[in-house]
Amino acid sequence: MSTVLSVRGLSVRFGGLMALDGVDFGVEEGTITSLIGPNGAGKTTLFNAVSGFVPASGAIELSGRDLTCLAPHARSRAGVVRTFQNLEIFANMSCLENVMTGAGRLSGYGVLAALFKTPRFWREERAAVARAEEALAFVGLAEHAATPAGDLAFGNQRLLELARALAARPTLLLLDETAAGLNMRETKALGGLITRIRDELGISVALVEHDMDLVMGISDHITVLTFGQVLARGRPREIQQNPEVIRAYLGEDE
Ligand SMILES: Nc1ncnc2c1ncn2[C@@H]1O[C@H](COP(=O)(O)OP(=O)(O)OP(=O)(O)O)[C@@H](O)[C@H]1O
Ligand SMILES: [Mg+2]
Repeated sequence: MSTVLSVRGLSVRFGGLMALDGVDFGVEEGTITSLIGPNGAGKTTLFNAVSGFVPASGAIELSGRDLTCLAPHARSRAGVVRTFQNLEIFANMSCLENVMTGAGRLSGYGVLAALFKTPRFWREERAAVARAEEALAFVGLAEHAATPAGDLAFGNQRLLELARALAARPTLLLLDETAAGLNMRETKALGGLITRIRDELGISVALVEHDMDLVMGISDHITVLTFGQVLARGRPREIQQNPEVIRAYLGEDE
């Protein structure tokens, strides 16, 4: 098995706070790897550093390619695509248009082609529409293509965000608390969907999630962060039984 994401010695400082302090984190090809830990542990910061939204020191490689000197859009073009902890959808745009903003990352056309609507522009535009429709269908929102995104129920807005990320055809998908705010039934369905993203689309997934049933149910590997450092790594069962992890979550005194 090869490594898709390799993060080594990652550190991020916000003023006096070490949000990440020498973290090693990896995602093997074809796996769902979860990153868990208490609030403020640095999970979102790790995703931000990997996707290029916050400056970090350390090594970040995607399938052996150094990402550290790439801007966020170039990292997503390279195959690292993320969702956000807070929904980032365009409420007035249709679902299809929302997903197209993700599909666009593959389009090579420049400003001039878009301005003069060249044949190449239309060809790529059609391809982007097809990718967006495919992604909407994958998450089960095909019939909502023309619906304004703001009219969707909250759970479906989460799925829309997922579709937008899929339309970009990522190598590695970073999901930041996609289950937040979902009810039990929706969370279970989401778990099935993420598993299908791994198995049917062959996309490797890094998952930040507080819902432990979801994490334990679908993860191949788990890394536990506390206070910006790795506390433990292992299979779900090993993590569940790790006394240090239990202590960190229960906040017990030594
Ligand atoms: N842009 C920023 N500027 C200053 N401090 C920040 C910034 N982003 C995060 N932090 C701080 O860094 C630490 C880690 O935050 P982070 O958002 O990565 O935690 P998290 O593990 O994602 O938590 P949660 O589970 O609540 O989402 C926190 O103390 C947070 O307040
Ligand atoms: Mg977070």
